[in-house]
Formats: sequence, structure tokens, C-alpha cells
Amino acid sequence: MADESQKWVLMVTAQTPTNIAVIKYWGKRDETLILPVNDSISVTLDPEHLCTTTTVAVSPSFDKDRMWLNGKEISLSGGRFQSCLREIRCRAGDVEDEKKGIKIAKKDWEKLHVHIASYNNFPTAAGLASSAAGLACLVFSLAKLMNVKEDHGKLSAIARQGSGSACRSLYGGFVKWIMGKDEKGSDSIAVQLADEKHWDDLVIVIAVVSSRQKETSSTTGMRETVETSMLLQHRAKEVVPKRILQMEEAIRNRDFASFAHLTCADSNQFHAVCLDTCPPIFYMNDTSHRIISIVEKWNRSEGTPQVAYTFDAGPNAVMIARNRKVAGVLLQKLLFYFPPQPDTDLNSYVIGDKSILKDAG
Ligand code: ADP
Ligand code: DP6
Ligand code: CO
Repeated sequence: MADESQKWVLMVTAQTPTNIAVIKYWGKRDETLILPVNDSISVTLDPEHLCTTTTVAVSPSFDKDRMWLNGKEISLSGGRFQSCLREIRCRAGDVEDEKKGIKIAKKDWEKLHVHIASYNNFPTAAGLASSAAGLACLVFSLAKLMNVKEDHGKLSAIARQGSGSACRSLYGGFVKWIMGKDEKGSDSIAVQLADEKHWDDLVIVIAVVSSRQKETSSTTGMRETVETSMLLQHRAKEVVPKRILQMEEAIRNRDFASFAHLTCADSNQFHAVCLDTCPPIFYMNDTSHRIISIVEKWNRSEGTPQVAYTFDAGPNAVMIARNRKVAGVLLQKLLFYFPPQPDTDLNSYVIGDKSILKDAG
């Protein structure tokens, strides 16, 4: 007969949005601890549209840690997952669920195993920061399950060890990842610069150019850049520190012109650094380039920027419109240049707090 004490399962579900960097992180000074070569700043997206949902479960009947991503089992043996699990487990507290009659003492967590099921409601590994939402959600849900009493700063440092960009997804609004000085990484954490209400005129439009998995993962790409690009040194030491200060000021003052100039310039320099890598990495494609030209031309014709664009490590365009009216015009322009048809590669748009055209093709 089954042992009654083995029957219980305790579960926690959490949802975490993705974030898109406006000043990019690209390059590590420590691969294991994931310490970056420069500070970065991002905007956290609306959780309703681009987010990860993760359920973590614990039961005495589980004989090992297991994880499913988008319904398919994946290995947890990688160093990053192990770092996150270890860092959360060693901070676990006592847990009690009176209704279910479950009591887990702090010391029990060493012997208990977890099952993790995670879903991304947007393309995985396609340059829309799935690793950011995914690893932040993993750390957050495990911390809730195990009653970890750490603040968001400490949790961000743990999420950072899963994927660098993940540390920024623990906060909403505008977020800065401070590179830190400590070689153990204790001061390499994310901080919120401004909450989601600070600049709520902005509307984010994402054009899904391709939902295919990219050929070069961010981790591999940036490793190759660090090893071979001279331009990266210049970017990390000379360019980004100044841009970070300017971007913080632009966000503080809701100065869209400066914000847009900095965002577009930083995206373009990040992709220039990818081209300066040996062998060169091409994350953008012809459709991405066309989108840049359309936005640049429009901004020039208006005399002041209406829309900022930024591309992560993939071809998909993230555009930030100065307000809802502009976002409407942007969408019209995109639909004019890229009418949704099954044979075009641009057939899905997500806008701000509302899905305008999802998988219209
Ligand atoms: P992206 O541009 O989507 O962030 P990356 O190359 O940085 O692409 O990372 C993709 C990897 O992140 C995936 O192959 C997977 O290992 C991990 N990942 C993505 N989503 C999740 C998730 N929800 N939970 C755990 N890991 C995830
Ligand atoms: C272009 O955080 O995905 O999106 O730390 O190796 O997991 P790892 O890389 P990841 O890199 C993100 C790179 C970027 C820019 C950014 O998000 O700042
Ligand atoms: Co990523």
C-alpha cells in the first residue's frame, strides 16, 4: 500500500514578463557568475502579452528534479539551472500548509525534489528575451515555494546566474542592471529606475519578423564577441557608461527625443559589435533592416522622433511609440509595408496593452 505521507504535492504558479534592453548587455567578464562588461537598462513589458508562466511543485514522491519547457522535458543538468536551484534551496525556510496538513522544515528542502513546468506565450530563443522572463520566473516561483525571505535585489542576483537579462525582469517599469565591482557578484544586481506608471504614454509595438529559434544563442554569441571584437572594448568602456547616464536622465525627464536617439543608437551599435565578431553574427535580416529604414525616414520627416526601435539578439523589432496615437499610425505603416499574408515573414504584431493582430497570417 502507498505510504500516505508520500501523497501530498505543494505547488506555486508565477508569471513574469519579459524585458527589452534599451541599453544592451552584451559580453561577460565572468561566464559562471554571469557578470557583465557594462551596465544595461531595460523596459519591462506588459505581463499580459509576453510572459512566462511557471508552476513549481514539490512532493516527497518526486525522486529527482525535473523540468518541462513548453510541454517538452528539458535537462536541468546545466550549470545555470543548478546555480539557481542551489542558491534558492540554501535559503529555503519553513513551510506550512495547514489546510493540506503539510509541514516542511528548513532542513527538509535538501532532500526534497521539485518538478517545474514552464510556458512562454511568445517565441522561445528568437530574440524576444525568453531567457529573461523564463529564468526570472523560475527563481521567483521557487523562492515563493520554498519561502525564501530575500528582497528583489538579492533574487535578481540569483536570476542573473540563470541568464543575465533575467535579473531585470523582477521589476516593472524601467530597470537598470548595475554591473558591479565585486568579483563574487554580490553587487551585480538590478534596480528599478522608474515604475510602470512613470511614463505610461509610451506604447510598445512588437513586430514578429520570425519566430524561428536563432542560430547563435545569446550566450554563445556574446562569448565569441568578447573573444574577438575590439569594438566591444570601446563600447563597454567609452560608449555605454556615458549612454547610461544620458538614458537615466531621459527617462527621468520623459524626454522622448533623447530616449529614442539613445535606444536606436545602442541597438545599432550592439548589432555592429555582432558584425565585428569573428565569424560575424547576423541577428537582423532584410525585414529588420527595412523596418529600421521606415522608422528612420518617418522620424526625420517629422523633425523629431516619433518611434524608437530596438532589436535584441534576433530579427524581431521592438518599437516604442511616444504615445498611443503614434502607435496607431505606426501600425498602419507596418500593415502597409508588410500586409499580413501567409507568405510574408512579418505576420504578427503585439501592441502595448492590447493584441492588435496576433498571428494574422
Ligand atoms: P532569447 O533571445 O529568447 O532570450 P536566449 O538564447 O538568450 O534566447 O535563451 C534561450 C534559452 O533560454 C532557451 O533555449 C532555454 O534554455 C532558456 N529558456 C527560455 N525560456 C525559458 C523558460 N520559460 N524557463 C526556463 N528556461 C527558459
Ligand atoms: C541582446 O541574458 O540572453 O538581449 O546571460 O548568456 O543568458 P545570457 O544572455 P542573455 O543576453 C541578452 C542579450 C540581449 C541584450 C539585453 O537583454 O540586454
Ligand atoms: Co536571452
